[in-house]
Amino acid sequence: MKKNFEYIVEPTKEVAAESADLCARQGTFDYVADFSSNITVKVLMPLMGLPVLEPADIRNRVVLAISTDRTTRGRNEELNAAFKWITEFIAREVENRRQNSQDDLVTRLAEAEIDGDRLDDREVMLTTATFVMAGIESLSSFMTTLALNLHDHAGARERVIADPSLMPKAIEESLRYNTSAQRFKRTVAKEHQLHGKTLHKGERVVVAYGSANRDPRKFENPDVYDIDRNPRGHLGFGYGKHLCLGSQLARMVSEVALNTFLERIPNFELTTRDFPWVSSSNFRSPKELPFKVA
Ligand code: HEM
Repeated sequence: MKKNFEYIVEPTKEVAAESADLCARQGTFDYVADFSSNITVKVLMPLMGLPVLEPADIRNRVVLAISTDRTTRGRNEELNAAFKWITEFIAREVENRRQNSQDDLVTRLAEAEIDGDRLDDREVMLTTATFVMAGIESLSSFMTTLALNLHDHAGARERVIADPSLMPKAIEESLRYNTSAQRFKRTVAKEHQLHGKTLHKGERVVVAYGSANRDPRKFENPDVYDIDRNPRGHLGFGYGKHLCLGSQLARMVSEVALNTFLERIPNFELTTRDFPWVSSSNFRSPKELPFKVA
């Protein structure tokens, strides 16, 4: 793995090894609480210069902050409270950096200046909150779906174990096959023709990345998980202006974490198929993933 990125690779390996060893000792474990959340919180928070909070707790708050109430299909008090908690926590960190500048991402955002223009406290806070929510939720959800794919496709898993350099292929195919970031809302900026339909300026539309990733016009046998395909052009990280800022970091951390996990726990089985999923109209990933060492 690239030398320059040791400051990311080494902590990822360390947290992944420690978490996987604990899972192996427990015998049965929740992959989300015991593995994927640990990696994202313990690796990403220090990278951003934020204090490492209890991983299961912060992931839980982040999941609530991006969730949808199943009954009202909107927000509710609990979900709003989680969002408020995260923004207040980050606002305190921003305030602290204004007083004591440090060598970290929050300070860089707070001090960034373009043509004499600086971000105000709220802008720094919301940008950092996007990083925290996008980073922690998307990455741990992605590593969770990747583990589920490798569980469900034993052939692919055996090949990756025999040759860990195949992991990037499993990662790209998982980003295409069942990425957690399924859909986002957009407003049409100018009239546009798409597959014989007219989208009018001002209309609210949904860009369904998950659906596009299974488009048979783009991918042959799209419903098949195939690590040998080249899923170039998948939309697992979005597209255009809003293309994921953390895509390369996410690829690197997932590769190191999952290879470390498989080295220690090559064979694992679901204890039940009836596990809970995150309640969201945009994101799709297991909320818990109960595995046992096989
Ligand atoms: C495998 C893990 C990840 C997946 C699947 C993912 C997916 C995505 C997708 C689909 C978008 C586009 C949203 C849109 O179209 O509006 C996005 C945006 C973004 N992602 Fe990620 N992401 C991942 C990890 C990360 C990480 C680790 C970070 C940062 C630490 C991050 C930061 C961001 C940010 C800041 C944006 C907003 C970019 C913008 O609107 O300009 N993501 N991500």
